[in-house]
Amino acid sequence: MSITTEEQRVGMQEASDAVAITLKKMREFAKPGISTKELDDYGGDLLAQMGAHSAPYLTYNFPGYTCISVNEEVAHGIPSLDKILKEGDLINIDVSAELNGYWADNGGSFILGEDLHGLGKLVEASKEILRKAISNIKGGVKISEIGRLIETEAKKAGYTVIKNLTGHGVGRSLHEEPHEIANYCDRYNTTRFKKNSVVAVETFISTRSTIADTQADGWTLHGNKGGFVAQHEHTIMVTGGQPVIFTAQNGIWD
Ligand code: CO
Ligand code: CO
Repeated sequence: MSITTEEQRVGMQEASDAVAITLKKMREFAKPGISTKELDDYGGDLLAQMGAHSAPYLTYNFPGYTCISVNEEVAHGIPSLDKILKEGDLINIDVSAELNGYWADNGGSFILGEDLHGLGKLVEASKEILRKAISNIKGGVKISEIGRLIETEAKKAGYTVIKNLTGHGVGRSLHEEPHEIANYCDRYNTTRFKKNSVVAVETFISTRSTIADTQADGWTLHGNKGGFVAQHEHTIMVTGGQPVIFTAQNGIWD
């Protein structure tokens, strides 16, 4: 969406606060021994308390309030009683929701407790690449240039990017124009970021894969060459200078 009134800006901020606070609290609630279903129910309760409604549930009838992807799962992991979190797990939580007609999206990967498998570097690279990407977005910048920046930075750090998962416009629905903010330079995408538009920018940094493939459950994504993926996502408003980070409260950069 494009923000043209103060009322819309406030509406977007409130929806963004709801998903950001939920993401932060879920990350704090995660501990070894609990199931991803327990973690998801906790997140669902938080959203409900704030009057927000799970976007994947509303939009895709996703079997959960949030997406919780563990270790080799790249994204869209289904919360399950059988998935028990362990020390050293690479966990990604993605929270998106609607509040009063406004939609916001955010996510982040983290290591649960001690970094037993040496994946902390991947998580840090993803966070820093998102920071760099967002700080380079302003009205008039080509979307493909930001994709180039993300891939270049990932390569420098020794990683690949997932090419078939992208950021996207957001605001009046979960996914809207521009539909693809890729993690690589898509030469066929000549679209530019527009001032006052609301977009969800997200990284998909991988240790080896370049494509995410859907698994038999119809939802969960795994990398085509295996390995691990870290994702970090903020909903922002594009301006003529530095973007407004609507989901700053999620604390993914802290
Ligand atoms: Co998301
Ligand atoms: Co998104």
